[in-house]
Amino acid sequence: MIRTSAIRATPFLYQPSTLRLSGTSFLNNASCRRTFISSAARCKDEALLNKDSHKKATEAHKQDMPGSSSAATSELTKPDAVSTVPREMHGDWVLFHPVYTPDELKQVEVLHRATKTFSDKLAYGLVKFTRASFDFVSRYKHVEGPPDPNMSLEQLRKAGYMLSDRQWLHRILFLESIAGVPGMVAATLRHLQSLRLMRRDSGWIHTCLEEAENERMHLMTFMTLRKPSIFFRALVLGAQGVFYNLFFLSYIFSPKTCHRFVGHLEEEAVLTYTRCIADLEAGRLPEWSNKPAPEIAIDYWRLPADAKLIDVLYAVRSDETTHRFVNHSLANLNPSTDVNPFALREPDMHTKGHKIAFDRSESAEYVKQSHELLQKKMQASHE
Ligand SMILES: [Fe+2]
Ligand SMILES: [Fe+2]
Repeated sequence: MIRTSAIRATPFLYQPSTLRLSGTSFLNNASCRRTFISSAARCKDEALLNKDSHKKATEAHKQDMPGSSSAATSELTKPDAVSTVPREMHGDWVLFHPVYTPDELKQVEVLHRATKTFSDKLAYGLVKFTRASFDFVSRYKHVEGPPDPNMSLEQLRKAGYMLSDRQWLHRILFLESIAGVPGMVAATLRHLQSLRLMRRDSGWIHTCLEEAENERMHLMTFMTLRKPSIFFRALVLGAQGVFYNLFFLSYIFSPKTCHRFVGHLEEEAVLTYTRCIADLEAGRLPEWSNKPAPEIAIDYWRLPADAKLIDVLYAVRSDETTHRFVNHSLANLNPSTDVNPFALREPDMHTKGHKIAFDRSESAEYVKQSHELLQKKMQASHE
């Protein structure tokens, strides 16, 4: 059983932005050092930025006087900004963001959690229905091998067995625009509940927010490859309006079913990106081979400067694997009484890539281990 009161007594639990890391030994590994170093670097950056921005603001103020040019405001108005600070000053992202080792990126398996209860079956049924409808509308039929080995790539694409780069992009953009909704809804509702009941949230809000942010970054990344049409944007607007409200109402009634639904949805996302990677690596997506990674992706996942789009796809697939693991694990908990086992740290891809979720007792054990590690760190700091 998870002892909420014991965890609440730990003063650090509600500071995930400083402690939460992706990695099994979060207290003494490279990621940990990276995070603390990044925080220090950010402070330094901010100090520099403040100094620099004060100078710029003074100059801007002078230029913005009546009759002067609008050059200063053009610094402020950048709807397509990759980052909010100049490139030479990149600090860390404010929310937790994933950085993977090359080995972690290859750990992902396509997995499915067998349904057990009625709510599991309902959640999975809805995901299957959504996927089938989406495949039908986008005229996509997946086949393991081409129906006729002599068919050319063009013929396969025309017959709907393979997606072109444009179709892949549309599929990804649409899915990502929807995938960013559940985390924000869950975080909103838990936030409101915390305000209403005047009690702490047990660490769920941050993880849900991080998932929403992570999905939005997927969308922002792929958006750089092609600007969607007005028709596509209208489609996203309609889908968002319907899905946000449906998910909002459903989460009020059954958070467990909703996390299970997202867990299954993420199973499909892992499958989609696995197929996309397979197509690209087999030469069936020639438009994307050797395509450089967008700058926003290099910054977010801390990829090497010469990273390619394939590296981005691997990173995104790993993120989807995290969402699969986290949501199925949360769906195995009691959302009213249990703490979020991932508030302090998360297992790395060696676990998340091969395991669909923690059951409730594994989550309890994981929380216990986190506290033991924290105790050790505190003792070490006092010595
Ligand atoms: Fe995503
Ligand atoms: Fe996802």
